[in-house]
Amino acid sequence: MTVITCIEDLRQLYEKRVPRMFYDYADSGSWTEGTYRDNESAFRRIKLRQRVAVNMENRSTAVTMVGQAAKMPVAIAPVGLTGMQHADGEIHAARAAEKAGIPFTLSTMSICSIEDIAEHTSAPFWFQLYMMRDRDAMARMIARAKAAKCSALVLTLDLQVIGQRHKDLKNGLSAPPRPTLGNLVNLATKPRWCLGMLGTKRHTFRNLVGHVKEVSDMKSLAAWTNEQFDPRLSWADIAWVKEQWGGKLILKGIMEVVDAELAVQAGADAIVVSNHGGRQLDGAPASIDALPAIVAAVGDKTEVWMDGGIRSGQDVLKAWALGARGTMIGRAMVYGLGAMGEAGVTKALQCIHKELDVTMAFCGHTRLTDVGRHILVPGTFPQ
Ligand code: FNR
Repeated sequence: MTVITCIEDLRQLYEKRVPRMFYDYADSGSWTEGTYRDNESAFRRIKLRQRVAVNMENRSTAVTMVGQAAKMPVAIAPVGLTGMQHADGEIHAARAAEKAGIPFTLSTMSICSIEDIAEHTSAPFWFQLYMMRDRDAMARMIARAKAAKCSALVLTLDLQVIGQRHKDLKNGLSAPPRPTLGNLVNLATKPRWCLGMLGTKRHTFRNLVGHVKEVSDMKSLAAWTNEQFDPRLSWADIAWVKEQWGGKLILKGIMEVVDAELAVQAGADAIVVSNHGGRQLDGAPASIDALPAIVAAVGDKTEVWMDGGIRSGQDVLKAWALGARGTMIGRAMVYGLGAMGEAGVTKALQCIHKELDVTMAFCGHTRLTDVGRHILVPGTFPQ
């Protein structure tokens, strides 16, 4: 039995258990993958200040995110095709989030549908929407999210056009995999995954069935999204989404102060400083490097969160210290899910929580609300 102690252990197990095309789909960034790698390495540069002989008993990492209680400032990010990483993957991840007391976000591009998640969980979850050309289809999805009692809508703004991920093109990514010789050989070495998939009927983008033609036999994910997603997205469209939805609105994919200010004017309840995990604009800075200027500009007007590169509780603490009032995790969840299903996501969340809690103590604090830049070594963090 493998002893799992950290997210990297889960990643290694995930790589062994999941077909190559889905592993590569997650473990990739656009073009050179420079921004993808920077998201992680930027965290390594930031150093923490150790304190001693301070009372470290009775600690709490509890916070609220858009007014909703969370056991730590971490939400599961929307991740497309999660149900291909493990059979019924979104249900597994949502259940693990519910048990851990943190929010789960379902992607537009999920395999399991909004209704599947509502049926298998009891905590309210969040739904992520992309701006699609077909506004009626969007309005119907918003109505379904309301009917499922989703407690926030995450509108992702950074995918008007899609960043090229070389690996997906080379692998001929599709859901489910097409039966080419290479795929069959690869699948033969992943018996757990294959058996799981045989046991579920959820093999396609169930949120989109009935909204968009040909989704179940798409030729390539990139070609399909380029066709469906709206390249003309404007702030007027965001006002339209806000009106249709009427609840908490989180705008994701903000990297510049000017856009953060426009997001505040548009009435965002929270914004996520995000470069889509390095999957869109290759060459963009690491999210953690973009965070401080945005916090300084709008942190007193809206909740500023960040995602990209979070692989540990130390990373969450550093983001919090720099002013992020929430974080989202994408790959850390996927690694756990592909490795061990719901138990793997639970493990990932436990690792992150424990690391966050103990690191906060090492830095001399018992409550996150007391943590600020003073826990960071001057000269090691972005201004
Ligand atoms: C994503 N992301 C994403 N974002 C979104 O709004 N809708 C989506 O469908 C997806 N799909 C998706 C698939 C995969 C495989 C990854 C890795 C990411 C981006 C995601 O929400 C988040 O911004 C990043 O994953 C954060 O970076 P880390 O935590 O993966 O480093």
